[in-house]
Amino acid sequence: MLVLGIESSCDETGIALYDTERGLLAHAVHTQVAMHEAYGGVVPELASRDHIRRLIPLLENVLAEAGATHKDIEAIGYTAGPGLAGALLVGASFAEALALALDIPALPIHHLEGHLLSPLLSKDPATFPFIALLVSGGHTQLMCVTQVGAYELMGESLDDAAGEAFDKTAQLLGLGYPGGPALAKLAEQGTPGKFKLPRPMLNSGDFMFSFSGLKTAVLTAVRERTLTEQDKADLATEFQEAATEVVATKALAACRQRRLSTLVVAGGVGANQRLRQRLDLAAVKQRVRVCYPEMALCTDNGAMIAFAAAQRLLADKAETANRNGAFAVKPRWPLATI
Ligand code: KG4
Ligand code: ZN
Repeated sequence: MLVLGIESSCDETGIALYDTERGLLAHAVHTQVAMHEAYGGVVPELASRDHIRRLIPLLENVLAEAGATHKDIEAIGYTAGPGLAGALLVGASFAEALALALDIPALPIHHLEGHLLSPLLSKDPATFPFIALLVSGGHTQLMCVTQVGAYELMGESLDDAAGEAFDKTAQLLGLGYPGGPALAKLAEQGTPGKFKLPRPMLNSGDFMFSFSGLKTAVLTAVRERTLTEQDKADLATEFQEAATEVVATKALAACRQRRLSTLVVAGGVGANQRLRQRLDLAAVKQRVRVCYPEMALCTDNGAMIAFAAAQRLLADKAETANRNGAFAVKPRWPLATI
């Protein structure tokens, strides 16, 4: 079965074709980073307009790469939330209209379910059950996953998401948007321990997170004195050490608590090399297998949405929109409720 995936929840337009027998046939992502850079963050209206411009050319490219035509598509999965309402509506209306024209099902997919299942697209995929660590720009969550559609929330951030903390800290250090990769790069030049930052909720005994205090501690350090370029690198390093220590420690504690030996890491912050290093080191000691998505599938993409839709169809858990042509997007949508 050939499934088209459409992602448009934020600042990336992603299109992909996934075949349940042959795997991922083609995928393409257009990132709007350059467009939003001047504003220091995503401008929702500009994001929506750009998704409109990109969807059809990307679809044509992906079809050509896969050697397929519109008529070969048998189902469509699209991100219905969470995300920016206008941006979601662009992808949703495109997907629903195409599905109506082709007389095939359209499946509204939860963006985080896409991220969470994306490591299963790897060559040597994870198997159920597993603990999922979701670390993106909007979410920091630990979930216990027993099968497709069974996502138990174990803990999440009380305030900022991990990616958001990376982005805000990067902004305080005068780095561009998106800050996560820029901060990680600067951190390579710094020395850990030159600054002392807190490890919020490291010993809270649960799976909750908090990153706003860490960001405030960076703000205090920035205001205390004029920082040299080396100071900034040292501060970036210490921030990365603090954030990744908390995330890695809690993720491995979740595996221990549930006696599970597979940890799946998903979301943009999962691309952070220091986080991967910490998880891999601790996992060897704890005999846990850590599974990551392919690098290109760590950040937002259509492949994870096509894959999640295909898994739902295979597991007979496909919910399609009302066949009167009515559909809705959900800018706020807790994953544990699906
Ligand atoms: O999953 P994602 O692409 O989009 C959301 O659904 O939010 O994640 C984007 C987030 C941003 O906050 C970005 O700064 C962060 O992931 N990020 C990173 C790295 N690459 C992306 N954070 C730390 N280190 C990285 N290498
Ligand atoms: Zn995402």
